[in-house]
Amino acid sequence: MSTGEGWLIGELKRRGVSRREFVLFCAGIAGTFALPGSAATKIAAALSKTKKPILVWLEFQDCCGNTESFLRASAPTVGEVILDTLSLDYHETIMAAAGTQAEEALQNVVKTHKGEYLAVVEGSIPTGAGGAYCTIGGKSALSIAREVCGGAAATIAMGTCATYGGLPAAAPNPTGALGVADAVPGVKNLINLSACPANAANMVALIAYYLTFKRWPPVDGVGRPLFAYGQSIHDACERRAHFDAGQYVEAWGDEAHRNGYCLFKMGCKGPVTHQNCPNIRWNEGTNWPIGCGHPCIGCAEPDFWDKMTPFYQHLPNVAGFGVSESIDKVGVWLAAGTAVAFGAHTVGKMVQHRLATREGPDTELPAPPSPPSKQPPKTGGMP
Ligand code: SF4
Ligand code: F3S
Repeated sequence: MSTGEGWLIGELKRRGVSRREFVLFCAGIAGTFALPGSAATKIAAALSKTKKPILVWLEFQDCCGNTESFLRASAPTVGEVILDTLSLDYHETIMAAAGTQAEEALQNVVKTHKGEYLAVVEGSIPTGAGGAYCTIGGKSALSIAREVCGGAAATIAMGTCATYGGLPAAAPNPTGALGVADAVPGVKNLINLSACPANAANMVALIAYYLTFKRWPPVDGVGRPLFAYGQSIHDACERRAHFDAGQYVEAWGDEAHRNGYCLFKMGCKGPVTHQNCPNIRWNEGTNWPIGCGHPCIGCAEPDFWDKMTPFYQHLPNVAGFGVSESIDKVGVWLAAGTAVAFGAHTVGKMVQHRLATREGPDTELPAPPSPPSKQPPKTGGMP
């Protein structure tokens, strides 16, 4: 009997994901991308016939926050299982192998699976001093990124450092830090998942989309998927009615703050920041910065450390802060954003689904396709 080894569906089955959970997850993905309901069936069919993708995760000038976001699961869910079941052949923070063994695992993927694997880059790439500010195994981050991203089927720049340079690139940028697109121009199929850190729920949706359609979804002008970055924080913010009514927090802890009024005057950069935080939230949907009384600091935007600081000051000169001119358009934007917002929220809920319902599987997933004729070569040293 087929064990489904090497296939995504076999792994989901083995981990107790039920047919209902899988179908709900696929429907959530379809909703996220504003696809017709029938697309859920196509997504389910495509994922059922998908091999576990090989993924290598590079870390350069970073704080490991995106890795933490990726690993933050407190209980397994369909989305988390999809992330878990990626054949994560190289990730220096969590792999068991070290030193030469680890570098061999990376080289093995690059040589044996050229053009097949997915690369994730976390952290910025220093280009100063010939790349000497960040070296791993005697190679500069720049040369590793060129080699690994250059041979990947597609690359995800994960977090604001990998997308636009982030904190290491803040003025005066002593290491010449750059995001992937600038450091390694011409990388094939690169997509940016910015924020500090990027939200794992968006990564799940993005990877599920890629596995289904074999390409990335539509992106905005700075290379981010529109499903997650197509709407400003301000347009979906739960405090928006207070902004429109002119009800602002004037000091930390004042009555307006305790009543959940708008944080615009306390430096909120929500009007010029684009991400779906108000809908998918963080920590299994528990809350998000503005939800717990903190202004958005614009962490998903390019150069936010330079352009959005001081974080707690209202900055009328930041591009896009002529909000008064757009107030009349709010209704239009909110209506246009509803489908995307609902869909993203649904995926967020799918990611949480098994937290709330820990009962056993309802019905089993379909059997995986026939097992591969050859076992995939062993490439990694993951536990
Ligand atoms: Fe929300 Fe900030 Fe906009 Fe106020 S300024 S409505 S707190 S995003
Ligand atoms: Fe970042 Fe603002 Fe969301 S600070 S996490 S983009 S609310």
